[in-house]
Amino acid sequence: MARPVVVVTRRLPAAVEEALAREFEVRLNPEDRPLGASELQEALRCADALLPTVTDRLTAEVLGVEPLRARMIANFGVGFNHIDVEAAKRRGIAVSNTPDVLTDATADLAMTLLLMVARRAGEGERHVRAGAWTGWRPTHMLGRMVSGKTLGLIGMGRIARAVAQRARHGFGMRVLFTDPYPPPPEVVRALGAEPRDGVEAVLEESDFVSLHCPATPETRHLINAERLARMKRTAYLINTARGDVVDEQALVEALRAGRIAGAGLDVYEREPQIAPALLAMENVVLLPHLGSATEETRVAMGMRALENLRLYFAGAPLRDRVA
Ligand code: DGY
Repeated sequence: MARPVVVVTRRLPAAVEEALAREFEVRLNPEDRPLGASELQEALRCADALLPTVTDRLTAEVLGVEPLRARMIANFGVGFNHIDVEAAKRRGIAVSNTPDVLTDATADLAMTLLLMVARRAGEGERHVRAGAWTGWRPTHMLGRMVSGKTLGLIGMGRIARAVAQRARHGFGMRVLFTDPYPPPPEVVRALGAEPRDGVEAVLEESDFVSLHCPATPETRHLINAERLARMKRTAYLINTARGDVVDEQALVEALRAGRIAGAGLDVYEREPQIAPALLAMENVVLLPHLGSATEETRVAMGMRALENLRLYFAGAPLRDRVA
């Protein structure tokens, strides 16, 4: 029997590409060029499945292609806001993602941003590399303590819980959170976290606010000018979730006006474009969407996507089905 054809939209770690090629008729993207709408449509017309990622905009229009051959989208990544899952469902296309395997890497990166922005690590590194360092002195580049401070989590899913674990048990932080679907009380107790009613309550009490909600129409610009104004002037905003959750222009204005102390960002509203004002701010740490970017994690994500393809084409129930 002919093996299903799978279009892999971006380069994946070699071990993943090799494993995919052993089981499927794969069409790889050796140049790693992002695919445009018409190329994604061509893939949906010619392949049985797509293995896309966050840079592929699988809109209703793209998914509306005729004739449609693809029956499965095995997303490489946990977030799937770049896929119109309702449109996929209407077209009878199954959609899966890769949860769990990137939880620790992303939580580590949230802590990296938090520590970097509070301890002025990006600024300090630029200072040393520029040859501007004249030596140790008691008042040089003072940051703020992380240990013992209050961390507010917006959303309390897998990644937020892993951040809570690190912050509470590694840094002795007090952890607050809000989530419309909170974890069971025993999980909250084990994390030593305190629930709050609503985003504002978390913003008002926290020294660091870390975002961990999915990007949906409801969470678009969840952090806007009004909510930024509710944060402490000494507080920092950390975003490893999705750029859309923050009104980037409102963030620029809040930082300019000193309404918050700084921000650590891994995701942006119009990736890979970043508001030019942010690039010039020393109290902002900017990373290029590195949340899951470890060798181990990207291989594990690829293997999880492969497992989803394997299950689908074996007619078995999908473990990570999102549509
Ligand atoms: C994810 O899996 O959602 C990461 O942000 C990579 O896209």
